[in-house]
Amino acid sequence: MKAIRLMTLGFAAVLHCAAVLAASTPEQRRADAALDHARLVAAGSEQGNWLAHGRTYDEKRFSPLTQVNDGNVQQLGLAWHFNTNHSRGLEATPIVINGVMYSTGNWSVVYANDAKTGELLWQFDPQVDKSWAVHACCDVVNRGVAVWNGKVYVGTLDGRLVAIDAGTGEKVWETLTIDKQWPYTITGAPRIVKGKVIIGNGGSEYGVRGYITAYDAETGQQAWRFWTVPGNPADGFENELMQKIAETWSGEWWKLGGGGTVWDSMAYDPELDLFYIGVGNAGPWNRYLRNPEGKDNLFTASIVALRPDTGEYVWHYQETPNDGWDYTSTQHIILADIEWQGQPRKVLLHAPKNGFFFVVDRTNGQFLSAVPYYPKTNWALGYDENGRPIENKELDYKDKPALIHPSPMGAHNWHPMSYSEQTRLVYIPMIDSLFQYEQDKQFKVNKGLWNTGMKPAKTPDVEQLFNDIIARKVTGGSLLAWDPVLQKKMWEVKHPLTWNGGVLSTAGNLVFQGTADGRLVAYKSDSGEKVWEFKTQTGVIAPPITYTVDGEQYIAVQAGWGGAFGLAGGLPPPPGEPRSRILAFKLGADVQLPPLPDKQLFDPPPRMAVSDDVLAHGKTLYSQFCFGCHGTDAVSGGAVPDLRWMAPAFHENFKPIVLGGALSGLGMVSFADVLSEQDADAIHAYILDQANDAKEKRDNPDPQWWHDLKVKVYSTIGELMAEHL
Ligand code: HEC
Repeated sequence: MKAIRLMTLGFAAVLHCAAVLAASTPEQRRADAALDHARLVAAGSEQGNWLAHGRTYDEKRFSPLTQVNDGNVQQLGLAWHFNTNHSRGLEATPIVINGVMYSTGNWSVVYANDAKTGELLWQFDPQVDKSWAVHACCDVVNRGVAVWNGKVYVGTLDGRLVAIDAGTGEKVWETLTIDKQWPYTITGAPRIVKGKVIIGNGGSEYGVRGYITAYDAETGQQAWRFWTVPGNPADGFENELMQKIAETWSGEWWKLGGGGTVWDSMAYDPELDLFYIGVGNAGPWNRYLRNPEGKDNLFTASIVALRPDTGEYVWHYQETPNDGWDYTSTQHIILADIEWQGQPRKVLLHAPKNGFFFVVDRTNGQFLSAVPYYPKTNWALGYDENGRPIENKELDYKDKPALIHPSPMGAHNWHPMSYSEQTRLVYIPMIDSLFQYEQDKQFKVNKGLWNTGMKPAKTPDVEQLFNDIIARKVTGGSLLAWDPVLQKKMWEVKHPLTWNGGVLSTAGNLVFQGTADGRLVAYKSDSGEKVWEFKTQTGVIAPPITYTVDGEQYIAVQAGWGGAFGLAGGLPPPPGEPRSRILAFKLGADVQLPPLPDKQLFDPPPRMAVSDDVLAHGKTLYSQFCFGCHGTDAVSGGAVPDLRWMAPAFHENFKPIVLGGALSGLGMVSFADVLSEQDADAIHAYILDQANDAKEKRDNPDPQWWHDLKVKVYSTIGELMAEHL
């Protein structure tokens, strides 16, 4: 780290004039980053900066800047790009303070870039234990840093919270936020309230018990911890609240973890002094296994309001009682003051995975309204006046499989929404999704690994998959403009693919969103009319931000395909060199990205001569241990290698990789503790079978089918994805 930093500074001294250097000395950066409570509460008034994760504590992700607007956005061009030299998902919201951008990338690496030129000022690599990635459901991503009193804070994939000097990128302190005998991970951005850094974690599918912790920003000392689900009664409850919520659980939930991790959203209302957290799904997903008496399972799938000084519980509202579908409430929380039925009301706006848009009184947690923003939502018919869902009994998966909208991907995932103070609309990156929920009656806990208690997703063959994607039967995505007062859609833009980026709205009557098919797009916020787009060479999932340097407005976004769907979703991989990048745009600029390299695919060796039983065994093991990263049916989602087309050397070293951990430094851990040599051979045989099927299809395509598909893909998905055919 140090070497890189010194090199960069040396380079800068040679190439840049003194003025640029002076603006980015360590002392200056540290002083500029000396955020305190007053500055964070008033973050909205620092128009050219982006001081906090959601820009302001109410997390609206709305900017009052108007230099770039619906009249001139056509002149927006690339001002700079910065390649992280990784190729996996980028999900971070950068923080920008007086011309310096602080952001994160793969493996929790932190970058400080000059926000005007993109030049790397320093880089901090927390040296994440790469083998910990086996516990990460949803890619080795990170959603950003928080800044306070001259320091930058990052939560690492392997569960640490690290404070870094904003001036130099050197570590100030570090604390472990998890018990490493449990597979917790951190991908979310910390928030800071009154000198306390607050961070949760993920792992609900891996058998953990959720919590969120606050640490003193100066020392790293733990200030409080709030558990979201009760532990084993035999160990004694931590407090009365745990004892009370334990009454909402049944069976031996503690043996299964319970879930309820706080892996993403938080918001703060300084006036009410309430800190809001979104709590994750119950684990395992299968509620008949987890919760035989069908109780509510607090605080899973809930919004909880806490006192930020003490972690004391104030109120909660549970959106999905007795969750059985992975319906997290960790989605982005927005605080807004709106007119509700003619009265001014302080509300919280929320579009969790479960497909309903919630309006909740944020002073006391009172339920005001829930209306499906995702019209296909079918697990519940609506909400009663007490704010409880009316479940659709016909789709109960207790005795038979049920096809349910939305899927565990949600109708909205972590990709942040935005609330425009100009249009008073919420812009939602919506997901169109379907999943077959079917109990796994043979379920046994795999400690530390994927445990849902459900049968794995079934994906049809490639041809079927593409046709289904095109017909939007399986998945799709939209940008939805939602009026939270009328509780109805004002406009919608449909995207060709699913898993599109987070959203930014600005007072220039603009909404910016990146797309899975590799574009950053601007729309008019009042009408949804598309007014600008830029090809990003990789899918964009992160939310854009905006800021000014030297009087010029920039729009910036991280472009890097990956995340949960990018791993398991079944789209072809992007070819070539790593290109997970930060891109920054301004009016009149026209920097070009380097041209796309050719992709290299290797034909598979012949099929192994094995019995159908061995193949079936291989498939079962693959679906248990490998699909989460390498994709359903060995069709990679793009962020991790597609095993069907890997280089010959990887086939030759299959066992050293899978059992010996030869690539563990790159995030491919050894599975020797759960797989025998015969098991590894069976998986290899299955992969070779899939690979040869795909190769034969490619070499002997039905010409008419191939032609039709290409035409359809070119016209609906766009060049970037069509290239992969
Ligand atoms: C936690 C995510 C994860 C899981 C689970 C996982 N892998 Fe991997 N695997 C990776 C990553 C990341 C790489 C790429 C390393 C690199 O080359 O950068 C990889 C690479 C490989 C490679 C080398 C191919 C190449 O092109 O790099 C093989 C073979 C492989 N994995 C097999 C398996 C098998 C078999 C399983 C199931 C038993 C499995 N993996 C489960 C993440 C995973």
